[in-house]
Parts: sequence; C-alpha cells; structure tokens
Amino acid sequence: MDWIKEASTSAQKSDAVFFYVFALSVVFLVFITALMIYFVIRYSRKRHPKAEQIHGHTGLEILWTAVPLVLFLTIFYYGWTNYEYMRKAPADAMEVKVNARQWAWSFEYPNGKQTKVLFAPVNRPMKLEVRSLDVIHGFFVPAFRIKVDAVPSHTNTTWFQATRLGTYDIECTVICGVDHSLMLSKVVIVPEDAFKAWYFGGPDAPEPKPVPDAPRPAAPVPPPAVALMDAKGCLACHSVDGKPMVGPTFKGLFGRREEVVEAGQRRTITVDEPRLREAIRTPMKSVVRGYPPAMPAVALAPAELDEIVAYLKTLHAPAAEHP
Ligand code: HEC
Repeated sequence: MDWIKEASTSAQKSDAVFFYVFALSVVFLVFITALMIYFVIRYSRKRHPKAEQIHGHTGLEILWTAVPLVLFLTIFYYGWTNYEYMRKAPADAMEVKVNARQWAWSFEYPNGKQTKVLFAPVNRPMKLEVRSLDVIHGFFVPAFRIKVDAVPSHTNTTWFQATRLGTYDIECTVICGVDHSLMLSKVVIVPEDAFKAWYFGGPDAPEPKPVPDAPRPAAPVPPPAVALMDAKGCLACHSVDGKPMVGPTFKGLFGRREEVVEAGQRRTITVDEPRLREAIRTPMKSVVRGYPPAMPAVALAPAELDEIVAYLKTLHAPAAEHP
C-alpha cells in the first residue's frame, strides 16, 4: 500500500491482509444490503400477498457453501503465511535483547551496548528477544505492526525490517502498574552508516540522529550517577527534582525526618547514609509511610551503590543538619 507509506515490511504485509478482509467485508455489506432492499420491495405483501415455502435448492446450497469456504480459505492462507513471515526472523538479523520492567524499556545489543531507545538501521532485519524483569508487559510498535508479550522468565521473539527513516513509538500494551501509561520509548531508524558509526564506535560514540541533518537542541549532560540510576530504572519511580512519582523524590531526601513502617511498627527516622543503603538494598524492610511497598530490590555492584548514595547525599535539603 504505497499511499499509507508503511514503516516496515511486516506493516506492509499485515496491512495487505487487513485491506483484503476489509474489501471483502465492504463488498458483502453492499451486496447483502442491496439484496435485502430488493427483497423487501419485491416480496412485500402488496406485490406478493401469499407467502410461498421453498424446500431445498441444491444449486443454492452448494453455492453458498462453496463461495464462503473458498473466501475463508484465502483469508486463512493469506493470514497464515504472513503470520509465519512475522514470526521467523531472517538468519542474518541482528539480535537485540529487549528488557521490560516497571516502567521502562531497555535494549541490549550483541556488543554489549545498552540504550533506552532502540536504534536500528533502515532496510536491515532486527530480531528482538523480549523478556520482562518483573511483571507481564506488552511490547508494541504500532508503526511496524509488531506486538509481543514480555513475560518474566520466558523469552518471546519478534523481528522487523524498517523501510523508512524516522522515529516511531514503542508502547506497553499490558496494564503493568500505576505508571503503565508512561512506559514509552522510541525506535529510531537511521541510515546504515550512521548506525554502524555508533555501533562500532566504542562506548563514547554519539548516538545516531533520528532524522539526518535535523537540528537537535543540545541536551544538558546529567551527572553520571543520574545516568546510572536511569539505566537501573530508579528514575521510573523517583525524581531528583522534587516531582512526585511512585516513590519519594530524592530531592531533599538526605537528612529528612520521616515516618517509616517497619515490621508493622511506625518509627520516625532521619535519613542518613546507613538508611539510604538499607532502603536501596532491602527495600521491603522498612517502607516510607504513605507510599506503596512497590520498590524492587535492584541488583547493584558495590561501587554502583556507593556512587548512587554519594550522589543522593548531594541532594540534601538546604536546612537539614547532617555531618
Ligand atoms: C517500581 C518503582 C521503584 C523503583 C524502580 C525504585 N524505587 Fe526506590 N522506592 C520506591 C517506593 C514506592 C519507595 C517508598 C516505599 C519504600 O520505602 O519502600 C521507595 C523508596 C526508596 C528509598 C527510601 C526513600 C526514603 O524516603 O527513605 C530510596 C533511597 C530509594 N527508594 C532508592 C532507589 C534506588 C537507588 C533505585 C534504583 C536502584 C530505586 N529506588 C528504584 C519505588 C521504586
């Protein structure tokens, strides 16, 4: 379908099936409606006062069995072959791991590169191994017409070959908790050389640009600890600027007095360094009052934990007293 300008080969295929079924439906809608109107007029009581019973008509029986059968079989054939196409990635596809978690997507390339946005070259097959680190999510790229469940301890695969440069939405299709609707990301389709320059360019290679030559506003570079927390998913639930989210904001956290519930008992504590470490390593041990016990224990290397704690301490409330 040229006029739709599909963004991937599977979109071309599934749209073709869709329009085939749609066209059949329109033809039958018109045909049946016209026939109904014709019968209503032709066999009205005025023109046809005495009803006639018809018993059996072999020709008609065969016709209305054979025609739908053939049509259904063509729909089945068309649907099945396209389904197979969409399930089986070509052998030369690049394999990318898609990790879903509450409430963020992350992507891992064969060479170890990790991103929050899926970069892919145009006209190249990309195979996606989709898994979840917590609950069930749904990986959906509407523009590519690909959709697959992300299930804990199970890997589902899908693939695509983009046919147009551009940036396309990734959505989660399974209600996975309070911030489900914010669990969004993008697929960025770039020219192959731009992709290669980034992919083979080592850890410092700049990310390929979504649209060639489009001016991009310079983004402020976040502190490394923020990038780390972003990569670990902390910022899906915590802000560093005071914005309320699922978990308490980190702004002014260090040195704050707060109430926690520990083993069913309320206690008032001051957030000091041991408290920060405990809250991150064993989140369920004591839960901040007024918040759901929704914080997962995230695996962190000791150095990563140190880096995060050191950074959280810099966000202390100005008035708080701490050593
Ligand atoms: C799924 C959402 C979620 C994620 C992901 C998450 N947290 Fe939390 N976090 C919470 C919630 C909810 C609370 C408050 C309830 C509690 O204390 O368990 C919390 C509490 C905390 C606290 C204690 C805050 C206080 O007021 O004492 C710290 C520190 C913290 N998180 C750090 C982190 C870090 C660091 C990460 C990433 C490694 C992280 N969180 C990932 C939801 C999350």
